[in-house]
Amino acid sequence: MRMGVIGSGMVGQRLAADLARLGHEVVVGTRDPGKLEGFVAEHPGVRAATNAGAAAFGEMILLATRWEGTREALDLAGEENLNGKTLVDITNPLDFSGGRPALALGWNTSAGEQVQGWIPGARVVKALNIVTADAMLNPRTFVGGEPDMFIAGNDAAAKGEVTRLLEGVGWGVVDLGDITMSRYIEPLALIWITHAANSGWTKRDHAFKLLNR
Ligand SMILES: NC(=O)c1ccc[n+]([C@@H]2O[C@H](COP(=O)([O-])OP(=O)(O)OC[C@H]3O[C@@H](n4cnc5c(N)ncnc54)[C@H](OP(=O)(O)O)[C@@H]3O)[C@@H](O)[C@H]2O)c1
Repeated sequence: MRMGVIGSGMVGQRLAADLARLGHEVVVGTRDPGKLEGFVAEHPGVRAATNAGAAAFGEMILLATRWEGTREALDLAGEENLNGKTLVDITNPLDFSGGRPALALGWNTSAGEQVQGWIPGARVVKALNIVTADAMLNPRTFVGGEPDMFIAGNDAAAKGEVTRLLEGVGWGVVDLGDITMSRYIEPLALIWITHAANSGWTKRDHAFKLLNR
């Protein structure tokens, strides 16, 4: 599948590398494609482009931008390049101003809802925001069984596409409902971060699982 990754930080690069390893064609979008020369040279199957170039290329779009820059990154990607496409929102709306990260918004909205509101024609699916980058497409590396990934979105077909991608690499997928459920998925990232921070960042390899009885 043709994948467009918007954002070229730790998450964007890791997703691009893993998607290429899985056999997808990948274009990473960035404000400065030149800075990815070395990364692209090391990862056959990955190309760098502008955000608009990545968005136009992708059949599926993965959004991996720092929260404060997300609106600008999507503006650069162009609504016309995103309309009708499945857009996986991996962002966490984090506020670092207090030292330790906290949620910049919540209760009555979420990053997922804001992204859906900014690009109403995209089929936004919240997913992958509750684990570290290198685990996103490598969940079989966890011990203790198959971990779960919570997803939310308004479009059933888009959630189906994301579910196939995630189940294919080893996630159990729990669909919580429409995009407003991002309000409950995004705080889980703070559990992940807090547990890591409490260990002095020595613990980075945890994920969530729903247990039934
Ligand atoms: N790090 C993790 O393990 C992890 C795990 C789960 C979720 N997340 C979430 O995933 C997202 C990406 O994380 P990250 O660690 O890769 O973030 P990051 O390195 O801080 O930023 C990712 C990209 O955001 C883009 N960006 C930043 N400011 C921008 C602006 N003003 N306009 C346009 N683009 C801008 C930049 O793209 P260019 O400079 O290339 O244009 C940058 O490479 C975040 O929302 C984070 O909370 C991260």
